[in-house]
Amino acid sequence: MLFAGITVDPAFVVGPVRKRTFGSFVEHLGRCVYTGLHDPGHPTADADGFRGDVVDLVRELGVSTVRYPGGNFVSGYRWEDGVGARAQRPVRLDLAWHSTEPNTVGVDEFVRWARRAGVEPMMAVNLGTRGIQEALDLLEYCNVRGGTAWSDLRRANGAEEPHAIRMWCLGNEMDGPWQIGHKTAQEYGRLAAETARAMRQLQPDLELVACGSSGSGMPTFGEWERVVLGEAYDVVDLISAHAYYCEEDGDLASFLASAVDMDQFIESVVATADAVRAARKATRRIHLSFDEWNVWYVKRAESRPPAGDDWPVAPVLLEDRYNVADAVVVGNLLISLLRHTDRVHAASLAQLVNVIAPIMTEPGGRSWRQTTFHPFALTARHAAGEVLRIVIDAPVHDTARFGEVPAVDAVATYEPDTGGLVLFAVNRSMTEPVGLTVDLRGFPRLRTVEAVTLANPDHTWSATADDATTVLPRPNTSATQDGDDVRVELPPVSWTMLRLDAAV
Ligand code: AHR
Repeated sequence: MLFAGITVDPAFVVGPVRKRTFGSFVEHLGRCVYTGLHDPGHPTADADGFRGDVVDLVRELGVSTVRYPGGNFVSGYRWEDGVGARAQRPVRLDLAWHSTEPNTVGVDEFVRWARRAGVEPMMAVNLGTRGIQEALDLLEYCNVRGGTAWSDLRRANGAEEPHAIRMWCLGNEMDGPWQIGHKTAQEYGRLAAETARAMRQLQPDLELVACGSSGSGMPTFGEWERVVLGEAYDVVDLISAHAYYCEEDGDLASFLASAVDMDQFIESVVATADAVRAARKATRRIHLSFDEWNVWYVKRAESRPPAGDDWPVAPVLLEDRYNVADAVVVGNLLISLLRHTDRVHAASLAQLVNVIAPIMTEPGGRSWRQTTFHPFALTARHAAGEVLRIVIDAPVHDTARFGEVPAVDAVATYEPDTGGLVLFAVNRSMTEPVGLTVDLRGFPRLRTVEAVTLANPDHTWSATADDATTVLPRPNTSATQDGDDVRVELPPVSWTMLRLDAAV
């Protein structure tokens, strides 16, 4: 058994818990939309064909914003194909995922789904094959009340009220050579700036996200952000970051420490954005939209699009089955995002259904929660108030990718009004349980009301439709309180939530 200590003090506030940290992402990719969200033959389908069982799971997951419609897909997408009478909508080839796009679901259906699911839509425009005009047309279609060609078309299509979409992504991963219409930082920075300027002429209070790097391993990482923000600093609000992690070559120790990489990624982008700010003598700060993050086994065969003459509709793509270690990493990545709440103002777990997703479906059949569902849902539900900077004293172990890393990582949130304190912690040791002592001396008297742990002696266990409850976070029976100290045992490869309320 290892031992670790955490000191929490209500005075050390990082910033507010932001609802938008708990966003997700729906792309026209594989079975995310078709047979995921949308399955007209399903017994729970609504008039639009959206599955009610999936909506219920999305609500339970606690998702706030949903980015749409891509992803790589958006860089070849004509949004006009997806509006109006369904029978007249063109069927197109989707080059990004070598699939056939039937356009049965488009912006109007997505916004209706989002309202039903209680999430805020976050729209991406195509800056790959298209540009300023098409972005303006889509904005007019969505947000202008009426009396113009595009807004009247929306009303004629059944949406009397504007969609009122505030957050817009200016393209997707334009730094990536795989992206249709890939650009240099200079080319993209100019286009993003001019698109943003024009969109603001239509609606000044938009929240605009410029594309940052599609990964911190990109050769242009850092320089991309510097050049793009050099062009677009004054007209955008956020810069994006994307990161996917997986266990490679059996190196579980490094995989479990993936949040170390996310911490460094965020801090590097913040440093770059602030350097641009200093050089421009600007006062406003640019914040981060970490709008694609997750575990993704990118080298697995299921991640490869079809090829040749095969252009299927909604093929099985990127359907990773997540195990307990994956869920611990997801929980730890959320800890990293929360810890940086002063600069990470939005984030999207990529993706929501079937495609590297916490929610899985059978076409016409069952839906279930993957292991990664649980740390996300519990963090989204219980993180509230302010994020606190905490001090962790934990033993370190060696990893091939990140050198020495602490076995324990954690973050706390605190609601001064109610006195509620919540601690989210992971044990990244592969073999050793950790006896954790949480020192709460800075708080008025608190009592433990809930301690749950997600762990399994077999960390490779993953949920199926038949057995999705085996690894639900379970009460942590070792949690005890002694005055200002709470003691809890964290099993190896585990995620834990500890919730305390003011004692009455
Ligand atoms: O989420 C899957 C893909 O990952 C997205 O389409 C793309 O933006 C990223 O490379």
